[in-house]
Amino acid sequence: MITHSFRETLDGGLEKTGQVVPMIPTFVFGWPSGDELGDYLAIDLGGTNLRVCLVNLQGKGKFEVTQSKYRLSEEQKQDDGQKLFDFCAESLKTFIDSNSGEGGLIQVSPGQKLPLGFTFSYPCKQDRIDHGVLIRWTKGFGAANTEGEDVAAMFQKSLEKFELPVTLTALINDTTGTLIASRYVNPTTKIACIFGTGCNAAYMEHIKDIPKIKDLGLPDNVDMAINCEWGAFDSFEHEHLPRSKYDVIIDEASNKPGEQAFEKLISGRYLGEIMRLVICELIDDGILFLGQNTYKVEVANALDTALLSLMESDPTDELLMIIGIFSHFFALETTLAERQFLRAIARLIGRRAARLSACGIGALVGKMGYLEDGCAVGCDGSLYNKYPGFAGRIHEGLIDIFGEKASNIRTHHAEDGSGVGSAIIAAMTKARKDAGLYVNL
Ligand code: BGC
Repeated sequence: MITHSFRETLDGGLEKTGQVVPMIPTFVFGWPSGDELGDYLAIDLGGTNLRVCLVNLQGKGKFEVTQSKYRLSEEQKQDDGQKLFDFCAESLKTFIDSNSGEGGLIQVSPGQKLPLGFTFSYPCKQDRIDHGVLIRWTKGFGAANTEGEDVAAMFQKSLEKFELPVTLTALINDTTGTLIASRYVNPTTKIACIFGTGCNAAYMEHIKDIPKIKDLGLPDNVDMAINCEWGAFDSFEHEHLPRSKYDVIIDEASNKPGEQAFEKLISGRYLGEIMRLVICELIDDGILFLGQNTYKVEVANALDTALLSLMESDPTDELLMIIGIFSHFFALETTLAERQFLRAIARLIGRRAARLSACGIGALVGKMGYLEDGCAVGCDGSLYNKYPGFAGRIHEGLIDIFGEKASNIRTHHAEDGSGVGSAIIAAMTKARKDAGLYVNL
């Protein structure tokens, strides 16, 4: 039932603008050839870190990446948006300065500008590739004066302030980058997903099946990547996804109640907190940690999702890892029965997240008719890469949806979409515009 309503929602988003799942046309036209070449800069504002990369595309699916990471503080996520983009530009300047000069990887002659891809992993309504109005912040961001604004123009202002020798070629979502980067190395890729701090997917759609952009007059036989923004599935109305009381608390306590309903059941930003709420309820009911001081675990967001991964993968009969986690982080002693229970809860939360993710993939596979011939799904993000059994549980879910044919759908760890994907998209865009194709888009 969830897969079915998911599919209807995806179709609805292609039909009309302004839908809850916005199905955003990205102006990335078709697949890469694999022969894209050259040096590109990429900046990636995604969730936890800011990353700056220099990507050298070598063709035939090969590339090299040089990168630096800069930690984002909680204040920066909530402060003024222009200041956040200034920080991005300043970090890019630091990166360029430290990699240029004699023998450096970056050599810019006077007047020359380097192509830059900006991976901005929040829902943006685009009407051309180097433009995007932020629909809403997700993943706990709340920087002021940014929602409803063109973030590419805001970033451009910051680039000018720091006098950077770059041209902003493309504004991209991490899923679109992942789709293109995965396809660059694996030609059977048709879908890309991120299961990390947030969750989302992108795929390639036929222009004739995107009714809402009919008036652009693009040829029917061309394809365009769609950024689904499926984390928003079932937002506001909450009519398709079964939510527990813990999910409702998380939603209401978030900076965006009602929004990102699907994401709040799945992504790494929330899973630890779901488990913590279960624990707190059982403490209140006098069932867990009797007679101990539990204040440390009662602090909001005190249980990181990474700890659920560790609890699930504890290989010892005594569950020594769980002993360590609870004594180290929360000064709590656990009985073996409590530890077995805690592990079972972690399993339920992780398994639900993976099976709901399978519903999203199933909706896209069904809609596009990929089941018979099969396809590869490039996946990235901390949950997919680090949560034990996450990929296997997605496959179990797909088998429950499609039966044995689900083995035609293979998920795999994707290439770095926000860096390499962004560079390939910058290269594809330059080639498209040089060829005189839809130059204003
Ligand atoms: C954002 C998407 C992004 C996803 C994964 C979501 O919260 O809305 O744009 O692709 O997180 O990073």
